[in-house]
Amino acid sequence: MATPRGVNEGTRLTTGAHRFSVAPMMDWTDRHCRAFHRQLTRHALLYTEMVTAPAILFGDRERLIGRSDEEGLGALQLGGSDPKALAEAAAISAGYGYCEINLNVGCPSDRVQEGRFGACLMAEPELVAECVAAMQARVDVPVTVKCRIGIDEQDSESDLQRFIATVAQTGCRTFIVHARKAWLKGLSPKENREIPPLDYDRVYRLKAQHPELTIIINGGITDLIAAAQHLGHVDGVMLGRAAYQTPYVLADVDRRFFDPAAAVPSRIDAIEGIIPHIERHLASGGRLNNVVRHMLGLFHGEPRARLFRRHLSENAPRADATIATLLEAVSLVDPSWQPLAAE
Ligand SMILES: Cc1cc2nc3c(=O)[nH]c(=O)nc-3n(C[C@H](O)[C@H](O)[C@H](O)COP(=O)(O)O)c2cc1C
Repeated sequence: MATPRGVNEGTRLTTGAHRFSVAPMMDWTDRHCRAFHRQLTRHALLYTEMVTAPAILFGDRERLIGRSDEEGLGALQLGGSDPKALAEAAAISAGYGYCEINLNVGCPSDRVQEGRFGACLMAEPELVAECVAAMQARVDVPVTVKCRIGIDEQDSESDLQRFIATVAQTGCRTFIVHARKAWLKGLSPKENREIPPLDYDRVYRLKAQHPELTIIINGGITDLIAAAQHLGHVDGVMLGRAAYQTPYVLADVDRRFFDPAAAVPSRIDAIEGIIPHIERHLASGGRLNNVVRHMLGLFHGEPRARLFRRHLSENAPRADATIATLLEAVSLVDPSWQPLAAE
């Protein structure tokens, strides 16, 4: 069996840690997804789904923000707009070992707007600054912001400049910028990830105007060649959908962006690496599908990928599904594979 790849790389962000990250994605980048992605890259910074501050204050914390050391570097994304609640939630979260607390200023969903947070906060830079300052006062890990290039009619370059400059006055040094605006009325969150055009140049100019800030670009980046090109202009790239839907793209991240000597894990390495995590999850009463639903795209583009995906989609949701279901799926895609024969 391959060496487990989920080795803890420490909980401190080092310079350059933002060169490559996987985006926060609700319902997608849960702890199982992150454990799986960690089999493919030791160095990428992995973001949680957004968790709201009230959920952390009043909810089941272990379920919402619990994490294991094997996840390695992990950043927690918070949603909210009440400085006191965010500060308290940040302090609690930092105690769970996250290396960064990120504030969501990019989500356009109606539910989030009703709570007056997410992307609509781009209209209130002073409030965002207040939230960030309150969080910074309670944690000793960096507090960062993920935003859009604009919202609604407030989408000029000077609007973005004012937003960033106001928030940066708190000492916030790292901004992740989804390079498209959000229309808060009329578009669904999904449409808001597709319809407003991408404007990478605006993010590049932001970096040029603020060399002192760490600027991470996000939106529509589908492969590592494009990621490398962006790194000629900004400090880091963040992949969302591509990392989730075609996770094997992550396998070359370490070698390309962090350590030329890093090994490139095979798909089978990733499967073998995640098995101990699945075993622990099943032993604690969890379901196979909680983990393997994030793995459906692993063989994307490979012959027989469909067999792997279909076998898991049809069989993993069963309450009594075990590791055997995953191993069967692997045998379909790679008939020569001997499941853990050496064990
Ligand atoms: C299913 C899904 C859920 C998302 N949830 C969040 C979230 O919780 N917080 C956030 O800041 N962005 C969220 N996003 C937006 C992504 O983080 C990212 O900004 C967006 O998908 C653009 O990047 P991409 O083109 O690489 O996917 C979500 C995106 C998707 C597809």
